[in-house]
Amino acid sequence: MGRPTIAEIDLDALRFNAGQVREWIKGEAEILAVVKADAYGHGAGPVARELESAGVNIFGVATGEEGRELRHAGLSATVLVLAGIDPQDLGEVIQSDLTPVLFDLDTARLLDLQAGNLRKNLTVHLKVDTGMSRLGIPWREWEAAVDVLPSLKNLKIEGLMSHLAMAESEAPEDRAFTEEQIRRFQSCLEYIGQRGMEPRYVHLANSAATTLWEKARFNLVRPGLMLYGMHPAPHLKRYISLRPALCWKTKILSLKRAPAGDSVSYGGTYKCSTDNLIATLPVGYADGYNRRLSNRAEVLVRGKRARVAGIVCMDLTMIDVSQIPDVQAGDEVVLLGKQGTDEISAVEMAGWMETIPYEVLCGIGKRVPRRYLRRKG
Ligand SMILES: Cc1ncc(COP(=O)(O)O)c(C=O)c1O
Repeated sequence: MGRPTIAEIDLDALRFNAGQVREWIKGEAEILAVVKADAYGHGAGPVARELESAGVNIFGVATGEEGRELRHAGLSATVLVLAGIDPQDLGEVIQSDLTPVLFDLDTARLLDLQAGNLRKNLTVHLKVDTGMSRLGIPWREWEAAVDVLPSLKNLKIEGLMSHLAMAESEAPEDRAFTEEQIRRFQSCLEYIGQRGMEPRYVHLANSAATTLWEKARFNLVRPGLMLYGMHPAPHLKRYISLRPALCWKTKILSLKRAPAGDSVSYGGTYKCSTDNLIATLPVGYADGYNRRLSNRAEVLVRGKRARVAGIVCMDLTMIDVSQIPDVQAGDEVVLLGKQGTDEISAVEMAGWMETIPYEVLCGIGKRVPRRYLRRKG
């Protein structure tokens, strides 16, 4: 079927970005590629396979279901389930050889019991909450929790992790908080060591910390966004050069003259002040082209910018192409990515949507086919 609204994923860019991360950390830690939420909208299976072939051998997903999808895609590397598994699913978790992250003692006890019933050992990573107040055993309760671990005979603690809340910020008070999170993590690591446990993997650094906080790298870093070619904050660009891997594009479906005084789309919020040329695109909020982009976003046509005209509809969006010379139905339109010498970045789109690039990428809908290609250079 020929709907032209697609997301192209440049596999070479993924490979390049992984190489840039590896070079930046001078190969002193391994890389866990975060491919949750369908690899931030890029398609978890193909992305993980590409990164695996580029030497990444640990992957992070949010759920057991996402982990199973990676196995179905043929991934043989370690897969860490970051955001919890239902103890009921333990059989499938073991069958798919997934490694759950444990972030509370009650679940740890339950999983230990279940694993015992199945006569299996379960490899897990432990998460300590060092200040984000999201998932993890609270750092203040760490010692009591660790003292219980030796009784959980069916669990093998392979990793220790935590997550940083504001690693990208260079504001002095935020930097002090990150310092404090690292200090707390260090002392949790030391305590577990004193109790005779030496997890093979120790990890704390997301993309921002991988870039800025050398002492947060331990022996495994956990980047997501960077691998897809974006920095979590604009000021991080000066450290590592990356290549965005995703280009979201479509084609003009219909082109029409709209005389001065006509209005465009629901509610008539876009009024034509002169005789305008309006193009209709086969993309809408059901594809993840967010309604907040109405009357705000720009797209690229024939290497020039054109503005979204009126309200984004479910399946269609109008743009004003009055200023695009020779524009025609069927012309390629880039919603996100490069065309000619210009580029609409996920950061720019996030600005129009009043959100972050993560949400832009994860929001690209299932209805948009992903095409994988190699661009080199
Ligand atoms: C636990 C954990 N680690 C690492 C990451 C990767 O973060 P980033 O995409 O900022 O590198 C995430 C993403 O939110 C996460 O939840």
